[in-house]
Amino acid sequence: MKTLLTIEELSGDEIRELLSLGHRLKAQRGRHELQPLKGQSWALIFSKSSTRTRVSFETGIYELGGRPMFLSTRDMQLGRGEPVKDTARVLGRMVHGAVIRTFAQQDVVDFAKYSGIPTINALTDQEHPCQILADLMTLEEIYGVGAWKEMKIAFLGDVNNNMGRSWMWAAKRLGFTLALGGPAEALPSEDDLRALDCPSIIPTTDPIEAVRDATLINTDTWISMGQEDQKGTKEKAFYPYQVNKELLRHASEGHSVFHCLPAYRGYEITDDVLEAHAVAIFTEAENRLHAQKAVLQTLACS
Ligand code: CP
Ligand code: NVA
Repeated sequence: MKTLLTIEELSGDEIRELLSLGHRLKAQRGRHELQPLKGQSWALIFSKSSTRTRVSFETGIYELGGRPMFLSTRDMQLGRGEPVKDTARVLGRMVHGAVIRTFAQQDVVDFAKYSGIPTINALTDQEHPCQILADLMTLEEIYGVGAWKEMKIAFLGDVNNNMGRSWMWAAKRLGFTLALGGPAEALPSEDDLRALDCPSIIPTTDPIEAVRDATLINTDTWISMGQEDQKGTKEKAFYPYQVNKELLRHASEGHSVFHCLPAYRGYEITDDVLEAHAVAIFTEAENRLHAQKAVLQTLACS
């Protein structure tokens, strides 16, 4: 593995190997024999806000022996219009790897190409691969290794956003059932679904149908970063897909609720549901650290 730009680019085996390494690194925290990033500097280039991603990458790089260097595009020449390919060619001659949070997927693709160094997508408008790895790790901790094979997973709300798309590619690569519940305009198009060619992805406008017998129910903000101008129009259409106690009556017994955070209580999830599932939700956040250390170690050792 030279980069982690999408879940799409990973095979099922690569995902399973990353999860397995993530579990091992979590169990061995503070006692790592390998320091795969020793002597390395890694740039964290962020154009969007972040709490979990920034802190987990800074901590993870440090724990693997490297030095994280946080760079906000507000302070970089990139933010004043220097092309990504020029920034990439400069950093590629100085640092050993890059973690990028930005808008266009093409920017992380170009950065990886022109820098020639290991590059990680820390969220774009298209995908959020690191979050999905942490979520799958959390699912395995709760239900067992590979347990997704036997369960229905549901994603409610803005199902075609970066999180939804990464879940879709995970369903395709690992072969689990994924119900997508959202308003018609938020569902993936027929063309997208045809391109994915994954019959176990089931889109529906019926929220009850989406969560019926689901073991894992996921949601995310209705207004992703960069879409703030769509707030009014989107919220009205998304309310029927709020994850609340009433809707969860239709889920399977022993279900879990996941949220990548930050959460907007009273919108995509109610306060009581978030608090009832807080252990799982904050474990997802914690597992960002361990899953990303698995990615960093794999990239550094490839
Ligand atoms: N879930 C997630 O990526 O959180 P941050 O935006 O805080 O990094
Ligand atoms: N879909 C959200 C995820 C935040 C971690 C966003 O892009 O803002």
